[in-house]
Amino acid sequence: MPIAAEGAQPAADDASAALHQAVRDNLIRYGAEFHPEFIVRARGSYIYDENGRAILDFTSGQMCATLGHNHPSIVAAIEKSCREVLHLFSGMLSPAVADLARRMAALLPRSLSKLIFLNTGGESNETALRLAKKFTGGWEVVGLDGSWHGTTAGASSTTYASGRRGYGPTIPGTFAIPEPNSYRCPIRHCRDRCDTSCLEVGFNLFDAQSVGAPAAAIIEPIMSAGGIIVPPEGYLPKLRKLCDARGMLLVFDEAQTAFGRTGRNFAFEGVGVTPDILTMSKTLGGGLPLAATATSPEIEEDCYSKGFANYTSHVSDPLPATVGLAVLDVLQHERLAANARTMGERLKAGLLELKQRHQVIGDVRGEGLLLGVELVKDRETREPAHQLGMQVTRRCMELGLSMNIRQVPTRGAVWRIAPPLTVKSDEIDTALAIIDQALTECVAAWSRTPTTI
Ligand SMILES: Cc1ncc(COP(=O)(O)O)c(C=O)c1O
Repeated sequence: MPIAAEGAQPAADDASAALHQAVRDNLIRYGAEFHPEFIVRARGSYIYDENGRAILDFTSGQMCATLGHNHPSIVAAIEKSCREVLHLFSGMLSPAVADLARRMAALLPRSLSKLIFLNTGGESNETALRLAKKFTGGWEVVGLDGSWHGTTAGASSTTYASGRRGYGPTIPGTFAIPEPNSYRCPIRHCRDRCDTSCLEVGFNLFDAQSVGAPAAAIIEPIMSAGGIIVPPEGYLPKLRKLCDARGMLLVFDEAQTAFGRTGRNFAFEGVGVTPDILTMSKTLGGGLPLAATATSPEIEEDCYSKGFANYTSHVSDPLPATVGLAVLDVLQHERLAANARTMGERLKAGLLELKQRHQVIGDVRGEGLLLGVELVKDRETREPAHQLGMQVTRRCMELGLSMNIRQVPTRGAVWRIAPPLTVKSDEIDTALAIIDQALTECVAAWSRTPTTI
């Protein structure tokens, strides 16, 4: 249950007002508007603002707080690191790094048993692409048009969901292919059922444009920023074959899907395909910056023999590795993948029930606790309901539920609903009731003043 934030100060407090002024004066804005209140405390599925208001966090922070906020095991791991060692020269290792590599290798197949530990998802993908280029000698990279792999140069070059304009040239040799979006078929070929023609079309175009230096294809097993797009059965095995036929490595970016979120340890386990390189980030650190890239002993050996270099200031840092060990322990002891399945079913059933009563809900999709709800003006035309989506999202926040809505005008209006894997059934029920109320109120307001939804 929510509890009032300890030591919360009234918003009008002078110190708070000065800090809000500092936000306006001294911070670079990097995306959507900042939430107007400071968040001063977080526990489990709840965050608490400076006015003591409890808000259900159904974005798990930035999709990272899978164990809930400030899990005691993470706090203990940080304290342990503070007593032992926080940071080292990149060529030195702590026992925690070796232990985390061993523990993760035990969860993964042998072909993914060599790991490197970094901090962000962008870095993990950058590293994956550097490995693929070194190994193959090629440099061409295929990505999907709904993808998000990070804002560093290599990762952003192969990110197509948004954020591309205005930063100059991307890395040469990057190619977008159409996403397997069965609700909004990008090649206007299927409706509600993707027959994977888009993949063939995409690779035909890639073959036509390639100068003969293929290195990798990179894909999220469930495209999250693109609007929770789940590839149809058979898509990823077909992608595997297309890559193999061209000598390209297959990279799975499991920033959001690894470590329980979809109801499995890794999303790739459910699709019958093992990638050549696997990247993991957000969900590995439980809220702290920890990422990893995994590949086979053969690829690692080959790249090492060619002088592979991948220094970052915080590669192999002890603190995040110690936290990663705690994350793995909690995932196992609290059986969080199983909880994601059970709670995910409850949440999805609730959303499908809302769909029966709210015409604006066009589609409900996703796996485990990574769910998407697409909002449309009309179920037949499927015109996106961006304005209404923003209004309902705002109203949900007023009612105590934080959710993420994708605001890319050229794409659908999709809520990404992803509470911590520790979420309780009463918290799911509370969130569903809030969504129901917000939809009811906003749709009623719109039908009284039908401007734009
Ligand atoms: C699938 C995926 N990959 C990579 C990234 C980039 O991660 P980071 O922001 O930690 O660099 C994100 C971030 O949203 C992501 O969703």
